[in-house]
Amino acid sequence: MSNKTFTMIKPEAVAEGNSGAIIKLIEEAGFRIVAMKKTLLSAARAGQFYAVHKERPFYESLCKYMSSGPIIAIILEKGNAVADFRKLIGATDPSKAEDGTIRKLFAKSIEQNAVHGSDSDDNAALEGSFFFSQTEMY
Ligand code: CMP
Repeated sequence: MSNKTFTMIKPEAVAEGNSGAIIKLIEEAGFRIVAMKKTLLSAARAGQFYAVHKERPFYESLCKYMSSGPIIAIILEKGNAVADFRKLIGATDPSKAEDGTIRKLFAKSIEQNAVHGSDSDDNAALEGSFFFSQTEMY
């Protein structure tokens, strides 16, 4: 079990001014920010990030959405980080997310679901290194 995970605050949550509230919930849940940046993904780069989904019917729309405005990429640290963070954000589909979870509070739809959270330690490491070099992780 690793102690790091990776998240993105997605375009609609950034555009609506919810990034501060989301980061506050993340820190209050005991996660430490290791690295953070606001950036704009091209559709091609969003496609690389979500390459695992490229056969899915929602892939093209997802790439378009994820490049529609800036996102905030964050590496987080905490014991049991991957599982605890997925609990904090709730189900992918916000209509199925538990009360109090970040997606229940801020997501608009299954696509515009406010935040991403890595699903495994290996993917957390891969996704973190997609945005940050080792010297940017503190
Ligand atoms: P995320 O956890 O970042 O991982 C893949 C993303 O694809 C997901 O959040 C949603 O933004 C999107 N997604 C997953 N399932 C669907 C779906 N059924 N329809 C549209 N978008 C989806």
